[in-house]
Amino acid sequence: MLKQMFDRIEGNTGLLVALSLLIFSMAILTTVALPYFATNNYQPTPLAVKYTAQQMRGRQLYAQSGCWECHSQNVRLPESDIGTVHQPGDIGAVSHPGDYLYQNPTFFGQHRRGPDLMHVGTRWPSQEWMTIHFLNPERLNPGTWMPSFGYLSKENLDAISAYLMTLK
Ligand code: HEC
Repeated sequence: MLKQMFDRIEGNTGLLVALSLLIFSMAILTTVALPYFATNNYQPTPLAVKYTAQQMRGRQLYAQSGCWECHSQNVRLPESDIGTVHQPGDIGAVSHPGDYLYQNPTFFGQHRRGPDLMHVGTRWPSQEWMTIHFLNPERLNPGTWMPSFGYLSKENLDAISAYLMTLK
């Protein structure tokens, strides 16, 4: 029965092409078109950051320097508002798709040899602290295996710090 059906399809070029096109267009619909329309309607949330030129440069340096090798930036699930670090909401609000509107690419990351930078309870309070940490992570966190990024120029370190301050 099944074999007869396949034989008929294979024997009829027109039918074969039509069915192939149908299957192909269904694949395009589900993997390209539907996700496109589903994600096109997101509105920016207060956490969506339109990067300044300096923050954008920091993002590029973040990618180039391999920070993502050790740090992920995962979405925060509803548990985040229950909060377990110090007090509820400490690690930041629940993530929404609109938070990521201007991030391309996103740095969700796969590895977590260092802290997830979207779940840091008590963050370094300012850009200056960030820079001190980059120059000598050991000084702020004895025993850390985060390498020093002192080989980057002051300008570049400032740019990375400016970018990191946008991670909330
Ligand atoms: C070899 C792994 C590794 C690499 C590469 C790395 N880090 Fe880290 N990072 C760590 C570890 C481990 C910690 C936790 C201890 C500490 O604070 O030093 C950390 C801590 C941090 C913190 C502090 C988080 C907090 O508690 O507030 C920031 C911010 C940070 N890293 C940013 C970066 C940036 C930006 C880069 C790239 C320029 C980078 N890291 C590269 C391992 C790494």
